[in-house]
Amino acid sequence: MADKLWHGRFEAPPSKITEEISESISYDNALYKVDIRASLAHARMLQSVGVITSEDLRQIETGLAQVLAEIEAGKMHFSAALEDIHMHVESRLTEIIGDTGKKLHTGRSRNDQVAVDTHLFVREAIAENRRDLVELLQTLFDLAQGNADKIWIGYTHLQIAQPVSLSHYLLAYFWQFARDLEFLDFVRQSARFSPLGAAALGGANYPVDRQQTATELGFAAPYANSMDAVANRDYQLNYHFWVTRLFLHISRFCEDIIIYNTTEFGYVTLGDAVTTGSSIMPQKKNPDIAELLRGKTGRVNGNLQALITNLKGLPLTYNRDLQEDKVYLFDSVAQARQGLLGMKEILRHIRFNEERVRDNLSRGFALATDIADFLVREKKIPFRDAHAVAGAAVKFAEDNKTRLENLDNDAWSRIAGFALEFPAGFFTPEASIGRRQGEGSTNPDAVRQQLKLAGNFLSASLQA
Ligand code: ARG
Repeated sequence: MADKLWHGRFEAPPSKITEEISESISYDNALYKVDIRASLAHARMLQSVGVITSEDLRQIETGLAQVLAEIEAGKMHFSAALEDIHMHVESRLTEIIGDTGKKLHTGRSRNDQVAVDTHLFVREAIAENRRDLVELLQTLFDLAQGNADKIWIGYTHLQIAQPVSLSHYLLAYFWQFARDLEFLDFVRQSARFSPLGAAALGGANYPVDRQQTATELGFAAPYANSMDAVANRDYQLNYHFWVTRLFLHISRFCEDIIIYNTTEFGYVTLGDAVTTGSSIMPQKKNPDIAELLRGKTGRVNGNLQALITNLKGLPLTYNRDLQEDKVYLFDSVAQARQGLLGMKEILRHIRFNEERVRDNLSRGFALATDIADFLVREKKIPFRDAHAVAGAAVKFAEDNKTRLENLDNDAWSRIAGFALEFPAGFFTPEASIGRRQGEGSTNPDAVRQQLKLAGNFLSASLQA
């Protein structure tokens, strides 16, 4: 029979469907680089503890370098018969350097091998995600800083609520993504231990130096427990939840943008770079990228749910079910990249149309709260009664097809039942925003303070 690397005790080859179900090379070839890196660390450790000779190590290093080059050049032939990336690398190494290649797997199992590979893969993905996320934060911060004087509109229940500054609106998303950055650092922490040296589950039958491989591969330390080391997938769960939560934030932002980009709202205009046309309706300029990012939330949440379901009730330690984890992982890593780059691109090609916003603030009686608060402050009227007067004013304006800022003193006095007039400029959105008080509010001073906090967060993130 064909010599499977584990063929020793077998007399018959696996069925075709067994081979098809077993293989993971069709997707785990993505691990080739980290697999070779971990193998090099393992081989160096084997040499330094005297399990293999310096000459063995030299051959293995040369051979692995060639395997790496072949894969990068697209010259490696991948075959389901060799199951996975680990077998491919080892068997090609043995073809190149001969029997010494067969020593590489000493004191190691595919269980700790695949575990160390995925740890390294996740850590690399996190490093890239971190860079992309910081750039997204920088883009949002720059937009917020450049739009401190622009008027924007705040909604609750998707009903016009109150004026805010555009900075304030943008910073609301800045802080969501800032929390994603903090969370990402935690996810990275959860992948800080090295599984290498755990072997199948109980540790190696050789004097392996797990500290050495951990250090060479950039881990903080080896896993404290070899069974936990090969069974644990918590760092992947964390990563999936991170991606899912990131996409929840992206999807909410994209939803705002999709709505605001409609003819009906017209608050933003998306540029050609992030829109696409319709094959039948020539007038269309669709926000497909924002829609796709919104839609991908379902996909990455699916990957999270898939891993949760896979892990549920798995007995210790390694079970082949775990091979499937990489299907979900690779996909979510790719989606996270697109989500971060796509969101940034949308923000680089968006125009904010303040005029439309101002018009809707007025049409939507967005200063009704200001009227109530004016009556409380200036007329010493209890808030509930003031609320009723402001409500009556809205009804009056609606019935008379006019707007609050157009009511004259007569109208106000009739509505209130007492002499009432408002100071000049009271009804501008700027005046409304200026009346807001307290840290974290949309008051321009508070927003300046907030921009400072955001800037500090960003520079700390750039240093970390
Ligand atoms: N390709 C496998 C995986 O991803 C490698 C581990 C195989 N281990 C085993 N005991 N059969 O999980």
